Amino acid sequence: MAFPPSFIDEVVARNPIEDVVGQYVTLKRSGGNMFGLCPFHGEKTASFSVAPEKGIYYCFGCHKGGGAINFMMEIEGLSYPDAVRNLAQRAGMQVPEDDQYQSRYRAQERLWALMKEAGRFFHEQLYGPNGGECLAYVQKRGLSKSIVTRFGIGFAPDSWNALVDAMKKKGYTDQELRDADLVGEKNGRIYDRFRNRLMFPIIDVRGNVIGFGGRVLDDSKPKYLNTSETLIFNKRRNLFGLNLAKKTKFPYMILVEGNIDVVTLHQYGFDNAVASLGTSLTDEHAALLSRYTEQVVLTYDSDEAGQRAAQRAIPMLEKVGIRVKVLQMKDAKDPDEFLHKFGPDKFKMLLEDSANRVEYQLNAIRSKYDLSLDDQRIRFIHEAAELICTLGSAVQREVYGHRVADAGKISFESMMLEVNKAFKRRLAREKKKQERIDLAPVQALQPKARSIRYDNVKSAMAEEQILVQALREPALLDRCGSLSGSSFSVGLFGRIFDQLTTRHSRGMDISLGVLEDLSEEEMSHVAGLCHRLQSPVNETAFMDCVRTVQQQSGRNNKSSDDDLLALQNKLKESKGTYQ
Ligand code: UTP
Ligand code: MN
Repeated sequence: MAFPPSFIDEVVARNPIEDVVGQYVTLKRSGGNMFGLCPFHGEKTASFSVAPEKGIYYCFGCHKGGGAINFMMEIEGLSYPDAVRNLAQRAGMQVPEDDQYQSRYRAQERLWALMKEAGRFFHEQLYGPNGGECLAYVQKRGLSKSIVTRFGIGFAPDSWNALVDAMKKKGYTDQELRDADLVGEKNGRIYDRFRNRLMFPIIDVRGNVIGFGGRVLDDSKPKYLNTSETLIFNKRRNLFGLNLAKKTKFPYMILVEGNIDVVTLHQYGFDNAVASLGTSLTDEHAALLSRYTEQVVLTYDSDEAGQRAAQRAIPMLEKVGIRVKVLQMKDAKDPDEFLHKFGPDKFKMLLEDSANRVEYQLNAIRSKYDLSLDDQRIRFIHEAAELICTLGSAVQREVYGHRVADAGKISFESMMLEVNKAFKRRLAREKKKQERIDLAPVQALQPKARSIRYDNVKSAMAEEQILVQALREPALLDRCGSLSGSSFSVGLFGRIFDQLTTRHSRGMDISLGVLEDLSEEEMSHVAGLCHRLQSPVNETAFMDCVRTVQQQSGRNNKSSDDDLLALQNKLKESKGTYQ
């Protein structure tokens, strides 16, 4: 449930942070801030600080921080809306009823309700008089009735108006059906977009139906029709099956390509399977996954495209701190086929055998060469050395170095010489890039939070300044010209910037405490920035930052900075090992 921003403003304004925190922590004033013992981690010296004029708290020990609402969530274990209600009550305020909601939130809620109704409609159709063919297809694909129910799978009938009519009867308008991307339009008349398809509802982690993937019942094209972007749906930020998988007891997630793979895996007890909605994995997907798991087993299709996608996904997942393993299937193109052919026990064995990503990548290299031929053996050693020299730990380099040395029939010492040479080549290649940026602070400036990464450090530094300065002096937002959140290199900062500009343009208050849709970790990160970056407001410096962000986003050279960061990690971890 979403509250109108103006209401949140008032709740925050009427609940001074020092009063809210003061109920739980004894605070002593020191300069402009107040200090106390952190209630979130045991400590003897006060590292917990409250900045009344900014309305935020921050612990220098455990790095938790945020506004009054976050504090209540954290200390009382409340959800966001419950924390808001609690604070409203504390200040003697009435919680607003539906008709007071801001239109955007009303529109979102209408779309959620509409999508849920549509999902229910499709599901009922499966068992209705026209559902026979689709039900037969479901059975042919080996899906049980209970798994169909668990996923809310349905059938879009072969009709131009079945859904439109049903939804209009329930009071939804043409415009709402368009906004939900459930219809097409010709000569001003709307018609059902999904026809004669098996329907997979896409459900977010909060349980809202936000989109659909519709599969044909035969081999016709296009195989899938998916909801495109709407007010409530973005395929780059959601994963199919995560609403169920987030509750799994397995300590890892299985990432697959197809919707059907997810459903079949769940049916066989692998309730930790998710898929990326027909797009290749995005940074947002990786960040989302990192909130629910520390390990991912990549289980992409066994064809070449699938294996290429796996290679691409590995660094994206590792970047957000996820350990990656790669499962490889023989005699089946995907998990769905494998499970039906060989059963869950065999699949479990594959899971247990799944190689960590280095083994996987080494195997991929090895399979390219015929090691009985000397020249190919040498090329194999060269290429493997290129991979091994990128590994951060000396133990890993030794283990895999031995393995390659054995396979290539050379001594371990020669192999390590090869690795060192590869490392130097790599250094030389990266040297030009190194010169472009002052490398030393890059590592230190990376956020501690696991889900936040600065890929473009130069831009990220400017983005930090823009947000911190704008939070201190909102009038600066009038000077940003056409800058928008989409130009920011750090997704989190872009989201915050957009919220700030929207609020500012509507004449609403701006403070950290009123920001929405931030995870605890994200909020803490930003609160930490506000504490750390204390330089006075300076319009010239601010404008420089705006320009930097615009230029960097124009250059769009994310990947080269990625490489730089990766290289620097290696340099740091390998000190003393090379040379
Ligand atoms: P697959 O072709 O592997 O589909 O595409 P699937 O779901 O496993 O179906 P089967 O097993 O062939 O019946 C993987 C995913 O890519 C997206 C869908 O999300 C699908 O689940 N996709 C595929 C599309 O979005 N559009 C397409 O035309 C095809
Ligand atoms: Mn498939």
